[in-house]
Amino acid sequence: MRSDVQHSVASWAILAGRPYFRQAWSDLLHSVSTGENAFRHAYGKGVWEYRAEHPEESVVFDRAMTAMSRGVAAAVLAAYDFRQFSVVMDVGGGQGALLAEILRRNPGQRGILFDQPQVVAKAGPVFDAAAVADRCDIVAGDFFVSVPEGADAIVLKWILHDWDDDTNIRILKSCRTAIRPEGKLLVLESILAPPNEGAVAKFGDLNMLVMPGGQERTAEEFRLLLAASDFRVANIVEAGPRISIIEAEPV
Ligand SMILES: C[S@@+](CC[C@H](N)C(=O)[O-])C[C@H]1O[C@@H](n2cnc3c(N)ncnc32)[C@H](O)[C@@H]1O
Repeated sequence: MRSDVQHSVASWAILAGRPYFRQAWSDLLHSVSTGENAFRHAYGKGVWEYRAEHPEESVVFDRAMTAMSRGVAAAVLAAYDFRQFSVVMDVGGGQGALLAEILRRNPGQRGILFDQPQVVAKAGPVFDAAAVADRCDIVAGDFFVSVPEGADAIVLKWILHDWDDDTNIRILKSCRTAIRPEGKLLVLESILAPPNEGAVAKFGDLNMLVMPGGQERTAEEFRLLLAASDFRVANIVEAGPRISIIEAEPV
C-alpha cells in the first residue's frame, strides 16, 4: 500500500475507494441478477463517458492502470519476444507504461501510443523517463473510428475485456484495417480458467460486468471473437496469473 515501492497497489486501492466505483459495486445485485452493467444502471451512462466528464476520476483511473501495467511489464517481456518487430503500436495503451518498457528494452524499435486525447495528454513524461520519447509517436483518437497504420505489432492490453463482443469486433476491425499484412496482433488479457480455477480472472470478470459492462473470456471465446474480426489465433503464451498473450495473425 506504500506508493514509493515497486509493485505498489496504492493507486489501485485509491481507485477502488472512489465513491463512484463503490456506488457501482453497491449495485452488484442488479448485475448478477440481470447480467446487465451495474454502472450504467446506477448512473445512466457508461463508465468511459462518466470519466470523460469527470477529469479528476480519469486521472485516478489512468494512474492505477499505469501502476498495474508497470507491475506486469517485466513478466510480459520475459514471456514474449518483441525484438522481431520494427514498429509496435499500443492501442488503448493508456499513458504508455508498457510501450515505454518495450521500447526501452528494444533499441532501434519505434512505437505508437494510441488512446483518448485526455489520456495521452499525460504520456510524455512516461516516455521521457524511459529515454525513448524520440522513438515514439503519441496519437490521440477513437479506436471505434480508426487507428494509425504502419505497425507490424498491435498490442491490445486489457481492452477487449471492457466491451461486449459486437463492440469488440468494431475495435478489432479498426486494427485489422491498420495492421501490416505480415503483422501480429497481441491481445493481452486474463484468460478464464475452468470452474474452481484461476480466481483472479473470475474476480476480474465480475469487475468488468459491474464497471465497464464487459467480461473476461475463455481461450475459445477469444478464438471465436478474433475469427469474427478476420484474425487467426497462432499462439497463446502465459505471462503470470493475471495476463496471457494471445498472438493472432490477419487472415
Ligand atoms: C482498461 S484501460 C487499459 C489501458 C492500458 N492498455 C493498460 O493495460 O494499462 C482501457 C483503455 O482504453 C482506452 N479507451 C477507451 N475508449 C477508447 C476509445 N474510444 N478510443 C481509444 N482508446 C479508448 C481508455 O482510455 C483506457 O486507457
